[in-house]
Amino acid sequence: MMKSLIALLPFVSLALGSTRPFLSHRQANVSSTSVNPVGVESGARCACKKLVTSYSDLVLLPGSANYTAQTIYYWDVRSDMDPGCIFLPKTADQVCNAVEIFTTCDAQFAVRGGGHMNYPGSNNIEGGVLLAFNNMNDYKVHNDTIDVSPGMTWYDVYSALDPYGRAAIGGRLKTIGVPGLTLIGGVSYFINKYGFAMDNVVSYDVVLGNGTQVIANATSHPDLFWALKGGANNFGIVTKFTLKTYSMPHISTTIQEFNESGVYDFLKATCDWVVGDSETTIAAGSVLDISYNVTTGEMSPMLLGVQEGISNPPSMFKNFTAIPGTYKINNVTTAKQWASNLDSPKQMFRVMFAHHSMYPDPDVLYSMYQTWKSAIDQIADVEGLYPTMVFNIAPASAAKVAQTNGVGNVWGLAGEPLIWWQFSTGWSNAKDDLRVESTIRQLTEHLHGLNKANGLAREFVYMGDAGEWQDPFAGFPGENVQRMREIRADYDPRGTFSRLNWGGFKLGF
Ligand SMILES: Cc1cc2nc3c(=O)[nH]c(=O)nc-3n(C[C@H](O)[C@H](O)[C@H](O)COP(=O)(O)OP(=O)(O)OC[C@H]3O[C@@H](n4cnc5c(N)ncnc54)[C@H](O)[C@@H]3O)c2cc1C
Ligand SMILES: *[C@@H]1O[C@H](CO)[C@@H](O)[C@H](O)[C@H]1NC(C)=O
Ligand SMILES: *[C@@H]1O[C@H](CO)[C@@H](O)[C@H](O)[C@H]1NC(C)=O
Ligand SMILES: *[C@@H]1O[C@H](CO)[C@@H](O)[C@H](O)[C@H]1NC(C)=O
Ligand SMILES: *[C@@H]1O[C@H](CO)[C@@H](O)[C@H](O)[C@H]1NC(C)=O
Ligand SMILES: *[C@@H]1O[C@H](CO)[C@@H](O)[C@H](O)[C@H]1NC(C)=O
Ligand SMILES: *[C@@H]1O[C@H](CO)[C@@H](O)[C@H](O)[C@H]1NC(C)=O
Ligand SMILES: *[C@@H]1O[C@H](CO)[C@@H](O)[C@H](O)[C@H]1NC(C)=O
Ligand SMILES: *[C@@H]1O[C@H](CO)[C@@H](O)[C@H](O)[C@H]1NC(C)=O
Ligand SMILES: *[C@@H]1O[C@H](CO)[C@@H](O)[C@H](O)[C@H]1NC(C)=O
Repeated sequence: MMKSLIALLPFVSLALGSTRPFLSHRQANVSSTSVNPVGVESGARCACKKLVTSYSDLVLLPGSANYTAQTIYYWDVRSDMDPGCIFLPKTADQVCNAVEIFTTCDAQFAVRGGGHMNYPGSNNIEGGVLLAFNNMNDYKVHNDTIDVSPGMTWYDVYSALDPYGRAAIGGRLKTIGVPGLTLIGGVSYFINKYGFAMDNVVSYDVVLGNGTQVIANATSHPDLFWALKGGANNFGIVTKFTLKTYSMPHISTTIQEFNESGVYDFLKATCDWVVGDSETTIAAGSVLDISYNVTTGEMSPMLLGVQEGISNPPSMFKNFTAIPGTYKINNVTTAKQWASNLDSPKQMFRVMFAHHSMYPDPDVLYSMYQTWKSAIDQIADVEGLYPTMVFNIAPASAAKVAQTNGVGNVWGLAGEPLIWWQFSTGWSNAKDDLRVESTIRQLTEHLHGLNKANGLAREFVYMGDAGEWQDPFAGFPGENVQRMREIRADYDPRGTFSRLNWGGFKLGF
C-alpha cells in the first residue's frame, strides 16, 4: 500500500524514503566561521545587528548548522536562498519589535510560514532578513473555533482537533503551512459546503507595518478583516488565526488510479462533478491530476477523494468509481489519519506552477491534455522531469459562503462552476530552469488563448496554483482591487509590505 501510494501521488511523497538530495553547493559554506554576513544590504546588516542584540538565541547567522537547515526549509529547491540572518520569533511582541527594527533600519525582509509557496523570493530573500515562524506553534481549541499560530502546518491543526472529532477548513496535504494557505484563500476538500479557508477565519491578530498590533474581525478593523480574506501578504504579518471548526468525526476517502485509456472518462467525471455539485449538502472534494512519466510513457490520472461522514465507497465519487481503473481503495477514517499519509517534503525538486480557469468542458480539456502531452515530449530529456496536469474544482457552491456571510472576500467569485487547470512541473537542475519555465509558460498562455476564443476562459487566477509570472489581482473584480489599495494606504502608509517586503503576490500600484 505505502509503496504504491508513492508511485501514485504526483507532487506528494510519503515520508518514508529520502527525497532528492538538495543542491550540494548550499552546504559548501556550513563550516564557515564568519558571523559577519557577506553581501548583506546595509539595511539588513543594521537589522541583524539589532536583532542579535535583543534576541541572540533567536537569530541564526550564516555558518551555523541551524542556519543552513533553515535555508532549505522549502518545498521548491528554487526558493532556497541565503538571507543575511534568520529571525525565529516566539511571540507576537517579538514580531512587532522585528518590524520596528526593519523599518528603522530600512531593511528588506521576507516572511515564511510553511515554506510551500513555490517560487524564489515569495518566502525568502537573498541577503535580507528572513522572519520564519518555526518557533510559533501554540494553539488553543475552543468549542467551535481554534486559535492557530503561524508556525503550524495543517497536519498540526487536524491533529489538535482530532480528539474532539472536529476539523478546520484547510489544506489537503500534510505539511502545507497554515498562514500562506489561509491568506491566499485556501482550497480544502470541503469548499463546496463550507467555502474556502479564508471564509472560515473569524479573527486575525495582525502586526502592522509600523509595529502596532491590531485584531481584525467583523467588528474590529472590519476593512482589514475583509482585505485579509484573499489579500495575501500585502497588509501585515498575521500572528494568530482564529478558525471555525466543524464536527467531523469521520471522513470517507477514496484513492483511484487509472491509465491512459481512462483519461477522457476521468476528465468527464471531473467536469460532471464540478457542474453537478452546486446543490449538494455533502461536503466533498478532491485532488485530481494526471502525471506523465516521460521515461516509461505511462500516463496516470489519479483521484484522491474525500467526503464528510461515512459512505463506502464514497457516494460523491461514484462517477469515478464507475471508470475501470488500475487501483482503487476506499476507507473510512479521520482528517488527521488521512493527512498523515500525504506529505509533500521540503526540497522535493525544482518546480513551477502555471494555471488558468475555465468553464468545465471535457472535450476541450481532453484536447488541452493532448497539447500538454506533446509539449512535454519536446522537453522529455530534461533530467528529473516530473510533469503533472492538475484539476482543482471550484463548484458554484464554493462561492456561496462568501456571498451570504455578510463579510465576503476579495475574490468576489460570481458562483459559476470552474475548473482551475494547472501544470505543476518538477525538474532537477538549475541549467534547465529557463527551458522548462518558458515551455510551460508558453503552453499555458496558448491554451488560455484558445479558451478565450471559444468562450470558456475565465480570468480568475488562484495564488496557490499560479506561477510567479502571473498576476492574480488582475482577475479579481476591479472595485475589490481598488478597495484593497485604499485599505493598504490606511494600514501601511509607509509601504513596509510593498517596499521592504516585496516578494510574493503583491497588489501593485
Ligand atoms: C504540495 C503543495 C500542495 C498544496 N496544496 C494546496 C491545497 O490543498 N490548498 C490550497 O489552497 N493551496 C495549496 N497549495 C498552495 C499553498 O496554499 C501555498 O503555497 C501557500 O502559500 C502555502 O502556505 P505556507 O505557509 O506553506 O507558505 P509560505 O511559502 O511560508 O508563505 C506563502 C506566502 O505567505 C506569506 N506569509 C507566510 N506567513 C505569513 C504571515 N504569518 N503573515 C503574513 N504573510 C505571511 C509569505 O511571506 C509568502 O509570501 C499547495 C502547495 C503545494 C506546494
Ligand atoms: C560559498 O562560498 C563560495 C566562495 O566564497 C561562494 O562562491 C559560494 O557561492 C558560497 N556558497 C553559498 C551557498 O553561499
Ligand atoms: C539549533 O537546533 C537545535 C536542534 O534543533 C536546537 O536544540 C537549538 O536550540 C538550535 N539553536 C538555535 C540557536 O536556534
Ligand atoms: C462549550 O461546550 C460545553 C459543553 O458542551 C458547554 O458547557 C459550554 O457552555 C460551551 N461553551 C461555550 C462558550 O459555548
Ligand atoms: C473583535 O475583537 C475585539 C477586540 O478583541 C472584541 O472586543 C470583539 O468582541 C471581537 N468581535 C467579534 C465579532 O468577535
Ligand atoms: C455524475 O455524472 C452525471 C452525468 O453523467 C451527473 O449528472 C452527476 O451530477 C454526476 N454525479 C456526481 C456525484 O458527480
Ligand atoms: C488500462 O486500464 C484498464 C482498466 O484497468 C485495463 O483494462 C487496460 O488493460 C489498461 N491498459 C493498459 C495499456 O495497461
Ligand atoms: C483506514 O483507516 C483506518 C482508520 O483511520 C486506518 O487505521 C488505516 O490505516 C487506513 N487504511 C489505509 C489504507 O489508509
Ligand atoms: C518513471 O518511471 C520510472 C520507472 O518506474 C521511475 O524510475 C521514475 O522515477 C518515474 N519517474 C517519475 C517522474 O515518476
Ligand atoms: C500604526 O498604524 C496604524 C494604521 O495606519 C495607525 O492607526 C496607528 O496610529 C499607527 N501607530 C503608531 C504608533 O504610529
